Amino acid sequence: MTTPVRASDTPFAVAVEQGKDYWWCACGLSKSQPFCDGSHNAAKAFTPVKYTAAQSTTVYFCGCKATGNQPLCDGSHNKKP
Ligand code: FES
Ligand code: FES
Repeated sequence: MTTPVRASDTPFAVAVEQGKDYWWCACGLSKSQPFCDGSHNAAKAFTPVKYTAAQSTTVYFCGCKATGNQPLCDGSHNKKP
């Protein structure tokens, strides 16, 4: 598996807490999107991406897994594959 699974067509809005670490699922196989649940072990080629919240706010994590600004949505989900 070299291409991530498109877990969602839109980003996931998450209220993050300042100073807390989050592990974004890069493979798209996690059942707890947008975060890693260890399912990437079956995909081999992927590892989660760490995100540390600089402040408590709402963050839009990429759900399509095609973002060029991992782990955040950069609008790439609107592009045709
Ligand atoms: Fe997708 Fe861990 S489950 S990166
Ligand atoms: Fe992936 Fe927006 S959801 S770029």
